[in-house]
Amino acid sequence: MAALVDDALEAVASCGTLAELEEARVKLLGKKGLVTGIFKGLAVLPREEKPAVGQIGNLLRGLVEERLQDRARELSELEETSLIDEGALDVSLPGRRSRLGHRHLLASVADEITSIFVSLGYEIVSGPEVEFDYYNFEALNQPAHHPARSLHDTLYVRRENLERESPEDVLLRTHTSPVQVRVMESRKPPLYIVSPGKAYRKDEMDATHSAMFHQVEGFAVGRDINMGHLKGTLEVFVRKLFGTDRKVRFRPHFFPFTEPSAEVDISCYVCDGAGCGLCKGSGWLEILGSGMIDPNVFGYVGYDPEEYTGFAFGVGIERVAMLKYGIDDIRVFFENDARFLRQF
Ligand code: PHE
Repeated sequence: MAALVDDALEAVASCGTLAELEEARVKLLGKKGLVTGIFKGLAVLPREEKPAVGQIGNLLRGLVEERLQDRARELSELEETSLIDEGALDVSLPGRRSRLGHRHLLASVADEITSIFVSLGYEIVSGPEVEFDYYNFEALNQPAHHPARSLHDTLYVRRENLERESPEDVLLRTHTSPVQVRVMESRKPPLYIVSPGKAYRKDEMDATHSAMFHQVEGFAVGRDINMGHLKGTLEVFVRKLFGTDRKVRFRPHFFPFTEPSAEVDISCYVCDGAGCGLCKGSGWLEILGSGMIDPNVFGYVGYDPEEYTGFAFGVGIERVAMLKYGIDDIRVFFENDARFLRQF
């Protein structure tokens, strides 16, 4: 018995590499190994001998496991030292730095946009993403079956009646403009508000569409606010955001809740207005929608349109980020590939 133990321990001690050690472990403790053999042999032993032999088996197994561990530690230290000797491992190299995370690009662009307006005296307000039809459409001058509703492919949460649209319907807001209505409903002018947040449309995901995207809504309401204020404010905004060498133009457009309405373009940063692939030859890139708040909207919130006027605008955050950083596919914002996120 003693010879058996000696042999087993010697088999461990004589291993020169971790690979040899693994072989020895299999020979001793593996399914067909020596120690396992002792336990298997118990079956054919006379009853009175079983406890003693079983105990020896347990002792041997404990001892072998301990020696295997000790030898593994010795051998890996040896292997490490020889790697150092061969120069394969340079222990003087600095350790790997762990990276700090940071805000998502969309969050910092949203901040950049809202802080420009905060510096102009605006206040940040947020509103619900799950919204009533009333705030998303009706009170923004689009009663049921208004043709402009079809411009927005709406995701509904609850419909009162599938046959007809109702102000009670619940939907995912298709833009951030409902915040205008909610704020005006509960407060009196003067109001200078920006409202960043998510909006949703029933769009298939492709390079320029996403069913969820972000906008910053802004509006100002008071006495004697006119189109000149809208132009001046948005020009300052665009120059702060994109730099003073960008030209800005206001192009007539239609929105149901503003009249007159304008889209704002900046001169293309790739060709500087000459016309290229990015601006589709026009020299201009659209960046936001805007207009003077329609008097009908004031009617819904109980403001006297003879007393108050105001302007509103909506900026797409993904759109600004794409233009500012030359990103050509909206999907990268939502894939969360660290190689993309780290660049900003
Ligand atoms: N809500 C509009 C949209 O999403 C943008 C807009 C906001 C236009 C405010 C004018 C005034 O298309």
